[in-house]
Amino acid sequence: MRQVRAENITKVFGQGETEVVALKDASIAVEAGEVVALMGPSGSGKTTLLRAISLIDPPTRGTIEIAGEKIFESERVLIDDRLLRRRRMGIIFQAYNLIPFLTVLENVALVLTLNGISNRESLKRSRLLLEQLDLGHRADTYPSTLSGGEQQRVAVARAVVNNPAVILADEPTAALDTERGKAVMKILRQLGHEKKAAVIVVTHDERMVEGFDRIYHLSDGHLSVEHLK
Ligand SMILES: Nc1ncnc2c1ncn2[C@@H]1O[C@H](COP(=O)(O)OP(=O)(O)OP(=O)(O)O)[C@@H](O)[C@H]1O
Ligand SMILES: [Mg+2]
Repeated sequence: MRQVRAENITKVFGQGETEVVALKDASIAVEAGEVVALMGPSGSGKTTLLRAISLIDPPTRGTIEIAGEKIFESERVLIDDRLLRRRRMGIIFQAYNLIPFLTVLENVALVLTLNGISNRESLKRSRLLLEQLDLGHRADTYPSTLSGGEQQRVAVARAVVNNPAVILADEPTAALDTERGKAVMKILRQLGHEKKAAVIVVTHDERMVEGFDRIYHLSDGHLSVEHLK
């Protein structure tokens, strides 16, 4: 099943002299159980593509389907995009957007409780995941007391705790050393290959794409694909 299908995505920012065409007819399709990388130089449109697919900032033109359901077509958003993100997508941004007045554990558990899971179960699952990410000892502290790399791993935990069908990760290993970066990539790969999510990971680092299924390359808003196996 094509979990994510985005076709001919064009995104134009501004108009007239300040117009920037960030994506030009970019098409990407990721099945359930596939893990793909999105690579390309700074300013090539990687973040813009993830923001388009998640409808945080919808495209100017194009079609987007999630699990066979059209969510964007003919310049129109067709569904409740906030519910889409809460129920079906895990998103890791370049800025971590952790909630400062909640503990690390509560930050991760929040998405579960918002989805109707009991407090006790939410906290239990979240603590387990934080332990897998080598953050168990930080669970009861506040985000502002964490290093950049620790905050990044909390953001990863928060995005994946709900086992979403689609995971969009914007440089989730940027602030991490190689070993911790690989641990994060392993969790993303497992969510794809074992839990059958469709996973798209932006990365600059070729070493991190070990075990991925494909690499998409963006260059000036144009998308091309490289098959790895
Ligand atoms: N809100 C915006 N308004 C105007 N231009 C924008 C906006 N967001 C992005 N752009 C432009 O669109 C292009 C693509 O930006 P984008 O953030 O998608 O690049 P990126 O590949 O994620 O880069 P990086 O690796 O630095 O994160 C850039 O030229 C950028 O300046
Ligand atoms: Mg970016």
